Amino acid sequence: MDVFEAMEKRRSVRSFDAGREVAMELVEELLRCACQAPSAGNVQPWRFVVVRDAGLRVRLAEAALGQSFLAEAPVVIVVCADLAAHAASYGRRGVELYAVQDTAAAIENLLLCATALGLGACWVGAFREDEVTRALRLARDIRPLALVPVGYPAREEVQPRKMDCKRLTTYL
Ligand SMILES: Cc1cc2nc3c(=O)[nH]c(=O)nc-3n(C[C@H](O)[C@H](O)[C@H](O)COP(=O)(O)O)c2cc1C
Repeated sequence: MDVFEAMEKRRSVRSFDAGREVAMELVEELLRCACQAPSAGNVQPWRFVVVRDAGLRVRLAEAALGQSFLAEAPVVIVVCADLAAHAASYGRRGVELYAVQDTAAAIENLLLCATALGLGACWVGAFREDEVTRALRLARDIRPLALVPVGYPAREEVQPRKMDCKRLTTYL
């Protein structure tokens, strides 16, 4: 699958084929793709926690305001930013902006890779950060930015309406 097809086909997947595990090699491939993302100064502030433990997935679902599909996916990849990574070179802009932007780019790479591998995933951003930090025992500077459940899609998702780019673009 080329990148154009992956961009077209990528959908937020929230229901998963129960009982079908995701092989470790595929998880590693997702992370390898995530790590190919661009990064300010090539600092690469992204960090990942791969959660397979059922009890922890339930805690993540609770932290995510009851989004139960997080507990139903066989694996949840918690994508974090190391806020300290950019601090030395870029100060406040590095901490507040680059760390988040770099990590967001890594998340999108991961989602496109999941599509290309026939997996389903969803970028989940609505969660109580303090609860995720506690559940995963994250260090102080490690900020969880997205919970990404990954599994085999239970069904084909319909594309939601996308705005016409022409209406969102100004040419000068
Ligand atoms: C920053 C961000 C946060 C999101 N948070 C959630 C979320 O908490 N729960 C959820 O089900 N989907 C979440 N999504 C997925 C969006 O709902 C989804 O991308 C959007 O509806 C468009 O659908 P598509 O991804 O299939 O194109 C989030 C997406 C982004 C980029």
